Amino acid sequence: MESQCSPSIVLLIICTILIGFSWIGAMAKPQFTAMYVFGDSLSDPGNNLYFHITATKSNYFPYGIDFHDGPTGRFCNGKLIVDFLAELVGLPILPAYENPSTNGENILFGVNYASSAAGILDESGSNFGHRFPLSEQIQNFKNTLNQLRNQMEEDEISKYLANALVLMAIGSNDYINNYLMPQIFKSSHLYSPGDFADLLIKQYAGYLLELHNLGLRKFYLVGNPPYGCTPFQLSIGHAPPGQCISSSNNIVEMFNSRLKSLVLRLNSNFQDSQFVFGPSFQWFFELRDNPFAYGLKVTDKGCCSYGPKNLELLCLPSQIPCANRDQYLFWDSAHPTQAVNQIIAQWAYNGSFSNAYPRNIQQMAQM
Ligand SMILES: *[C@@H]1O[C@H](CO)[C@@H](O)[C@H](O)[C@H]1NC(C)=O
Repeated sequence: MESQCSPSIVLLIICTILIGFSWIGAMAKPQFTAMYVFGDSLSDPGNNLYFHITATKSNYFPYGIDFHDGPTGRFCNGKLIVDFLAELVGLPILPAYENPSTNGENILFGVNYASSAAGILDESGSNFGHRFPLSEQIQNFKNTLNQLRNQMEEDEISKYLANALVLMAIGSNDYINNYLMPQIFKSSHLYSPGDFADLLIKQYAGYLLELHNLGLRKFYLVGNPPYGCTPFQLSIGHAPPGQCISSSNNIVEMFNSRLKSLVLRLNSNFQDSQFVFGPSFQWFFELRDNPFAYGLKVTDKGCCSYGPKNLELLCLPSQIPCANRDQYLFWDSAHPTQAVNQIIAQWAYNGSFSNAYPRNIQQMAQM
């Protein structure tokens, strides 16, 4: 554009303004028609607040201490990965499905269905009370779709859905609050780790096919993070100094390797669609192994962990968090800080991790 501008001062000014506008236009134009998020507490924007009986709420200070709306139910000091991602692709921060004002034109840029403690299996996380397991999150998406049908023509909707981004990040609670909790859940007595991962992937694949049948085409599927590195696990397990609980991580990796295979299979079965695997293990270990490169200093304790041993999963109401929040990998004993969420969102958006099979979110938008 610059090359077309005449050197005359007036034209130069007009040109500069035009370039400015086209730049703003490029920034503001959403790269997807909408974004739909399915997941657990790493993505929950406050859906669980609307349940009466649940032990997984974080609508109290110091949660949200760095968020413009204060405590919202996000398990973080500030924004979640999905909040940053929405901004990176030019969309507004997505509303929580369960928020009563999430209807009408408020659903046009997408909805966030993620629910803390939720898993792929309906039973996972039931120790915490009410939550939306993945099956109900899919059901809730269908409700949104019915609302969209009142606002759009059918052919318009199919184009709209084909250019929407689905972000799914779920499965941790099938381990943390199911398989790795043998006192409460039977799954580890019934299944070997491999068989359990197969069971999860079978259900997961079924839900993906359901969403594909409804018209969605672009899927970004985040693997399970290395649970054995959370301050909580480090405090109850027995890891050698400076290391993670590898037995927990190995079990969770079985899920991830099967998810990668599923992504390969789905891409060859559905040429009109994109399925991408988000390599959360790789992201996490990059941060943990090179903290200084990212401005981090503490990787094994939460900024707001409780007590010397981090034995509480969550930050307690009105607990005073650490002052230098951006230097911590973990905010509480299980969830990353806003600083880390921003780095990860950027990697998912336009990073070039070898395992981000087969592409990043920016490339998904362009195809
Ligand atoms: C990724 O996007 C950001 C802007 O959001 C930009 O600053 C950065 O240079 C990009 N990185 C790559 C590798 O393209």
